[in-house]
Amino acid sequence: MRCQGPSMNLLPALLSLVCFAAGLSSLGAAPAVPPPRESEELAARYEAVSTPQFIQGQKLISLLSIEPGDSVLDLGCGTGRLAQHVANLVGPQGKVLGIDPSFQRIAIAKRREAAGLSFEVAGSDNLSAFASSSFDRVYLNYVFHWIDKKEETLRQIYRILKPGGRIGISTGSKNQPSRVRKLIRASIREVLGEVPPDLFVSPFQMSQKELRTLAEQAGFRNVDCQVFPFADYAKDPEEVIAFLSASSSGRFLSGVGDERRERILSVLKHKLSKLQTERGIEMDHPALLLVGEKPR
Ligand SMILES: C[S@@+](CC[C@H](N)C(=O)[O-])C[C@H]1O[C@@H](n2cnc3c(N)ncnc32)[C@H](O)[C@@H]1O
Repeated sequence: MRCQGPSMNLLPALLSLVCFAAGLSSLGAAPAVPPPRESEELAARYEAVSTPQFIQGQKLISLLSIEPGDSVLDLGCGTGRLAQHVANLVGPQGKVLGIDPSFQRIAIAKRREAAGLSFEVAGSDNLSAFASSSFDRVYLNYVFHWIDKKEETLRQIYRILKPGGRIGISTGSKNQPSRVRKLIRASIREVLGEVPPDLFVSPFQMSQKELRTLAEQAGFRNVDCQVFPFADYAKDPEEVIAFLSASSSGRFLSGVGDERRERILSVLKHKLSKLQTERGIEMDHPALLLVGEKPR
């Protein structure tokens, strides 16, 4: 892999990421979304509840035709479960680098062992540190809806992919809100009287058409964007809320203040309890899966 070592070149960016991970906005600018409220406990909880993301991620990876010997970047790798799966596909001749702005998640990821598998604290703002044409595949599994600078991120991914290399994105679908998401909105409306601009769950979701257009505008060709319906079960309302909190790095409902958050959660728990069955509460996760190719 010909990428430059991120730890060599990323000191200023890593410092700002430390602020980011600590929940501080850099340079006093107001954050576009509530900052993450990451902690070791939340990162460990994510590792425990992220099976839905892992299943969706395996589907995404199956569309990317990853081959032994490939060099792969997992952008927003979380605790690294999917990266480890990919390391087994590329084998000892290949390389998989997982990067994530949460040092707590990277600490868990670094416990994983596989030939050619490594992890660094970094995020979408740090892609300029990688050399052009470094990777055969770059994927983002359930990360793109947390990224506001989407055009720039895609531009950088295009640059660091080798000609013929592929991008893979799985992300929440703006036009196919899950049942739980609808209940969240209804609970917010019940308590606040309105649903403010969506600062509460995955703020930067796109429609299938928007995502495809964005990828094509970045230069990707043979773009395929499909909806992947998937559902699993949470044990009870508490487990649904634990999933939402952990998968949003603690941002879930954090923008409304503690008192109003508690009131919304209480309404939400009540609504969720009505969906309780013997198997638990069904959680659907309608995702968009996009793959595209950098022309040779
Ligand atoms: C729902 S988790 C998905 C984690 C992992 N991809 C998986 O499949 O389990 C979203 C991840 O995106 C990361 N993230 C948030 N903003 C990011 C950014 N700008 N660049 C890279 N990763 C980011 C978070 O730290 C978090 O680990």
